[in-house]
Amino acid sequence: MEKIQKLIEEHVGYLIVFTLIVISFAGLVEILPLAFQKSTTQPVAGVKPYTALQLAGRDIYIREGCYNCHSQMIRPFRAETERYGHYSVAGESVYDHPFQWGSKRTGPDLARVGGRYSDEWHRVHLTNPRDVVPESNMPAFPWLSKNLVDAEILPKKMEALRTVGVPYTDKDIAEAKAQAEGKSEMDALIAYLQGLGLALKNVR
Ligand code: HEC
Repeated sequence: MEKIQKLIEEHVGYLIVFTLIVISFAGLVEILPLAFQKSTTQPVAGVKPYTALQLAGRDIYIREGCYNCHSQMIRPFRAETERYGHYSVAGESVYDHPFQWGSKRTGPDLARVGGRYSDEWHRVHLTNPRDVVPESNMPAFPWLSKNLVDAEILPKKMEALRTVGVPYTDKDIAEAKAQAEGKSEMDALIAYLQGLGLALKNVR
């Protein structure tokens, strides 16, 4: 035993290889079960795939870089749950590809912002945040009301999401274009925001 230890400690190459083996094994033990555990792979009750319009809104959220200032993950601490509501659970993001958890919070967490304000509040806020929150340093996004959603591409996006496990039906995909056609990017983004975190909204 002592001989083996001496051998490993005196040869940097061995030391590196064995260290990597130990870390990989420990990593697998921690990470692998998560891929098979129901609590991390199954949607919690009430979580539905995004509608076509919400999906378009989500892509605008990503395009505009909202995630640079907003996380979507409420941590299980009292200070957070008092402010935002029930902490986030993995089963709420099973249809998010990629998820928007993040950790950068220049602005508040948005994991449960759905239903907190009216659509009209969001419209005014996104067009010029200072009109409703005078001290806000959030940028304005006035062009969202002028641009129309690209509805053509939505069925393709939904098909792609279906291949990674989002249970869209043929009907959902067939109706996607009509649902988003003629809607502004503002409408889509608000539809997305208003759907965030509703499943556990009233759970305390
Ligand atoms: C430069 C950082 C920054 C960016 C980028 C940003 N925000 Fe904000 N956001 C803030 C700050 C700061 C606040 C708090 C002040 C306020 O309400 O305006 C805020 C507040 C909000 C609120 C109100 C949350 C609440 O619970 O009161 C919403 C909703 C929101 N932002 C959505 C968005 C969306 C959608 C985008 C992308 C289109 C975005 N933000 C981009 C900084 C940012």
